[in-house]
Amino acid sequence: GKNLPSAITIFGAKGDLTRRKLIPALYNLFTDHHLPPVFTICCVDFLEEDEEVFKQDLLAGVNEFSRNGKADEAVWNEFASCITYLQGDFMKEDTYKRLRKKLDTFDKENKKNSVRIFYFAVAPRFIEVIADALHVNTMCGRDQQDRIVVEKPFGTDLETAKKLNRFLTKRFAEKQIYRIDHYLGKEAVQNIMAFRFANYVFEPLWNRKYIDHIQISVAEEVGVGKRGGYYDSSGALRDMVQNHLLQLLCIIAMERPGFYQSELIRDAKVKVLKHIRPFTQQQVFKNVIRGQYTAGNVQGGRRVAYRKEEQVQPASNTETFVAARLFIDNDRWKGVPFYLRTGKSMPVQSSVITIQFKDSPHKIFKDDLTPNRLVISIQPELEISLLFESKVPGLKMKLKPVEMDFTYQEAYTETIPEAYEALLLDVLEGNPTLFMRADQVEAAWKVVMPILDAWKKYPSKELHLYKAGTWGPSTATELLKPYAKDWFRLS
Ligand code: BG6
Repeated sequence: GKNLPSAITIFGAKGDLTRRKLIPALYNLFTDHHLPPVFTICCVDFLEEDEEVFKQDLLAGVNEFSRNGKADEAVWNEFASCITYLQGDFMKEDTYKRLRKKLDTFDKENKKNSVRIFYFAVAPRFIEVIADALHVNTMCGRDQQDRIVVEKPFGTDLETAKKLNRFLTKRFAEKQIYRIDHYLGKEAVQNIMAFRFANYVFEPLWNRKYIDHIQISVAEEVGVGKRGGYYDSSGALRDMVQNHLLQLLCIIAMERPGFYQSELIRDAKVKVLKHIRPFTQQQVFKNVIRGQYTAGNVQGGRRVAYRKEEQVQPASNTETFVAARLFIDNDRWKGVPFYLRTGKSMPVQSSVITIQFKDSPHKIFKDDLTPNRLVISIQPELEISLLFESKVPGLKMKLKPVEMDFTYQEAYTETIPEAYEALLLDVLEGNPTLFMRADQVEAAWKVVMPILDAWKKYPSKELHLYKAGTWGPSTATELLKPYAKDWFRLS
């Protein structure tokens, strides 16, 4: 049904996500002829708003945030003619009656049942209300072509995630539910699958016998900005580790699926989470470092302390930085530490995964050798590089590490789609591979629960402050010992 008319409903149309990510992504898909010939984007939100004014604001969003820069006027006008605004309270029955009428009319006009997508770009408290209303008003009942897309946070802990899963799966088939983790849509993250499973050269080395340790680091330059209200009750563990970092870990650590097929891939990923060694409360404080930024300079700009940010409690103990050491207890990984790190207000944005290989057991050179290291850079640079020793030209046998480098910039002329473009297209085409199944979300919560519990019990114990614009508390570097002296960065 690729060419069926599509009706995309966005709840939370006045929100940041719609303006920054969803509309620019849909616009770029439209520009590149990936949207079906007939579609409508129905934007729903509470605010009273003139439709033209609303669209002008979306256009401003595209101009500011689209990877292609400013929109083409003619193309935008054509695209925008398919957008409508529906003012409605998510809590009121009448909103859904009007929405349903609108969608039914669209179908009648096209004499076809459209593919219906309902995107929940809303605060978590609205998810159940909207889901229930869609169900009660029988707008999203055909499991072949009606889908809902749910943003994170998906629950705030294991219990609430389970509850939400139960709620949703009572009303929709699992195959209709697309739980977003936008990291899975990133180009360089998708490429890890290709790198690992289309290149047999690395596969024999991809295990405890040859790998010393692995680092997964997602450093952010941004602070909490205007999201203090949400962030202060969430923190970096829930905001980044439970979802994005654990998903990166799954892709790095998973077994090869039998085929490139969504359920097999998701099965392989969830197995990784289930094999992560659970922490006892004692182990949490030894293996997981939390930090919070104080005032400092980031990229030449002044950043206030986290506790002084808008809508943040003045005595908040919420972590803006997490570093953790995890072990996966299976044949492939037993004994190999996986180091995870993420933080806000760090010196630069940089997401890199480093696989450090072991030293050779027997050395024939006198030089102190640097172990082989494979660095997968996800953003801002898209790059894979392999570090290896080489003889420095000259009359002596002197060694020095060099890099074999693959950069997207040099290798490709294609532009890099945004994660949301890839993911929205997958939803339209009904491909759930890059979305979180119910059991994946729950397994990921299970991994972080002991940490959440320990921190809840000891709210301020070992909360390390770090200056904005630094790489986080020094204890996070200690954690690496004796495997590494520091967190690796792209050189
Ligand atoms: C979101 C988090 O899921 O991911 C944000 O809520 C974070 O706090 C963002 O900044 C990072 O995404 P990206 O694509 O900018 O790396």
